[in-house]
Parts: sequence; C-alpha cells; structure tokens
Amino acid sequence: MDLSRDQINRIFEIAESIKSGKEKIALKEHAVLALLFEKPSTRTRLSFEVAMAQLGGQAVYMYSETTQMERGETIVDTAKLLGSYCDFIAARLYNHSDIIEIANNSGIPVINALTDLEHPTQSLADAYTILQHFNNLRDVKIAFMGDIASNMANSLMITAAKLGAEVALVGPYEKYPPNSFYLNHAREYSKVYYYSSIEEGLADADIVYTDTFVSMGQEHEAEKRRNLFSQYQLNEKNLSYASHDALVMHCLPAHRGEEITTQVIDGPRSIVWEQARNSLLINKAIILFLSERR
Ligand code: CP
Repeated sequence: MDLSRDQINRIFEIAESIKSGKEKIALKEHAVLALLFEKPSTRTRLSFEVAMAQLGGQAVYMYSETTQMERGETIVDTAKLLGSYCDFIAARLYNHSDIIEIANNSGIPVINALTDLEHPTQSLADAYTILQHFNNLRDVKIAFMGDIASNMANSLMITAAKLGAEVALVGPYEKYPPNSFYLNHAREYSKVYYYSSIEEGLADADIVYTDTFVSMGQEHEAEKRRNLFSQYQLNEKNLSYASHDALVMHCLPAHRGEEITTQVIDGPRSIVWEQARNSLLINKAIILFLSERR
C-alpha cells in the first residue's frame, strides 16, 4: 500500500541486479534487522535471516511470547526500543494497527511480514515471479481462488493491480466478501472483479493462485471454513476452467487435499517453489531498497 508502482519496479530492478551479481548498493556495515513475530513462520523468517546474513548484516529473531510484550509492555514502547538498537524491523503481527504503531514510533524502516490484513512481501515475490514468465503484468489475468477476504488476497490484488494485471477474486463472496477498502484501492489501478462461479472467474486466467482456507488466528472456525470453501479447491477439474497453460501459485504452507491437491501443486504447471525461492531474493531487494532511501 505504501509503495508506488515505480518503487515496486525499483525493488524488482534491485532484485535483478542482485541476481546478476552487479548490485552496487551496500548494506551499512553490521546492520541489524529485528524480526518481531507474534505468529509462526518458516519462509518469511528464514528468508529475512538468510537475506541479512548474505548481505553482510544480521537478523535478530524475537518471538513476542518470549519478550516483555507478553507481560504487557506496549507496542509503542517496544517499537521505540527496537528503533534505538536496530536498523530495520520486519514484524509479523495479528493486528494491522500494531504495525502502523511500530512504523510511527520506531523511527526506522518497518517491513510488514504479515498482519491479519496484508502480506505485502509475499505479494512482491509473487509479482516478481509472474514477471519471470510474462513480460508485463498488464498482459496477465490473475485469479485468486478460495478465501478472497484474506490478507493474501488483499495484498495480491493491490500489488498485481498496481502493476496493471487484471484480477479475479473467486470465492463464496456472499459469506466472505473481499475487503472493500483494498478492493476499491486496487480498482483505482486495474480491473478487479469478484465471482462465486469458478467457471466464470477462472475463464482465461493465466495464473491461478490459492492459499489456506484457515489463516492464522481463524482456527476457531476451521471446520466451517473448510466446508464452505471446499468447492473452491484448486484441483485438476477447477484448473481446467483457466487458460490451457495457466500457471499455479500458492504462497505456502500448503494444506494438501484442502485448498489444493497434491496432483496440482506437484504438477507441471505449478511454480510454487520458484515463488518460495524468490522470497529470499525479493527480501534482500527490499532491505537494499530501504537502505538506498536512508
Ligand atoms: N508464505 C509465508 O509467509 O510463509 P511462512 O508463513 O512460512 O513465513
């Protein structure tokens, strides 16, 4: 949400130059990234830790339950402390308003590593991955199928629409509608539609993207969600409604047999491991992009 199209493209440009070994921006010596996480993570945590190590800096992981936040220290006080010790913060939090508090009070760049409303670092890696297969997102239709009210749907529609892609949100919108704030914002940039019909929503899609039906923090309604979303599983039949050469994406972790079948995620059209690999590259590029601006 905070990045312009030009800034997103600058991050991709940095990623390309890292890949070619020609990147000129250097990380400040001994730079430290604080990873403040309230929720579990495999990829995001590891990719930021590896990114900092490979860039010559260091990441310090803090699971919130092991900090004084658990005993009531406020998010504002925590932000001030992190800002006085570290160079960057990447935070994975439940409440989106908490990351705004950290950004407003730490005095250093803050990266959203997922909140209940957004997962922007993932959507940047996703858009970069799609660009490895298509020259321009303006030529691409992306269908996100499943929980179209999720943080992943919000960030994917914003990032993809900003870069000009057409976005179809395909899910049971009468019960779980897309977030109107993100939808309206995405529509300022591109065509974004939502459907309950899989056949209509996936028609001519170049990318079919799915994610868990039960996001972190929604475990109490897991059964209800699995029942409601089950018809939106990304399986061979539903994939057949998309373009004949449509690519399959999933931000992972996958719940095989729920939102996606093993046949599809391990099939020839799946680019999920390329997506996961690109998170490391993009997270390095995000750190260097923020260094460039300091
Ligand atoms: N895609 C993603 O955010 O994975 P993790 O939850 O493992 O970080």
